[in-house]
Amino acid sequence: MFDRIASVYDVMNSVMTAGLHHRWRRRAADLAALGPGDRALDVATGTGDLAIELARRVGPQGEVVGVDFSESMLERARAKAPGARFEWADALALSFPDGAFDAATVGFGARNFSDLLRGLAEMARVVRPGGRVVVLEITTPTKPPLSWFHQVWFDRLIPALGKLTGDSDAYHYLPASVQRFPAPRQLAATMERAGLEQIRWLITAGGIIALHVGTVS
Ligand SMILES: C[S@@+](CC[C@H](N)C(=O)[O-])C[C@H]1O[C@@H](n2cnc3c(N)ncnc32)[C@H](O)[C@@H]1O
Repeated sequence: MFDRIASVYDVMNSVMTAGLHHRWRRRAADLAALGPGDRALDVATGTGDLAIELARRVGPQGEVVGVDFSESMLERARAKAPGARFEWADALALSFPDGAFDAATVGFGARNFSDLLRGLAEMARVVRPGGRVVVLEITTPTKPPLSWFHQVWFDRLIPALGKLTGDSDAYHYLPASVQRFPAPRQLAATMERAGLEQIRWLITAGGIIALHVGTVS
């Protein structure tokens, strides 16, 4: 599915979020608390936008690796961001040694993991003790009127926009995957089970975006 939508992915993100997705990725990169010379991993990197944010922070002395299991997404990331390294990998079985990175991030990808706990545990494993794991995800507002707006946006407008791209399945999958993703408190509990501590989260964009960060123990 992600191979199929790679060519429209960036445009759809900008249309669906009115361009705000870049701001959310910048906030995720801030939570990774990287400095010049650090090493960072962006899991389920897609077309590489979050990896690009991380690369700005680690500078030329640092290193950013973006991994994904869609070659078409990776091709686009490589063309966009020569300053980061993009490799094929399954988030549920990363090939990096323990503690190889100062931080690992995942933007709008954790929702797609077939085994969330395993994906988060893999991210925690490849980060050194004291390093950070950051999860940026869409979340479902619980209180009206935002919950109404969210429902119309995700259940009606996004599938309709998806039809225009010629891949309506993918844009039906998106709201379904948001609905079944754990609420912020449950996600924090899963991060704890994955080996993270000092977990905190913030909700932004009127309650539709959650940013979680935990420290590797
Ligand atoms: C919605 S896109 C998010 C892309 C990017 N992180 C962003 O911020 O726009 C989800 C990405 O997760 C990738 N993905 C999902 N499950 C994965 C897994 N188990 N291993 C590697 N990549 C995965 C998909 O190929 C897709 O590129």
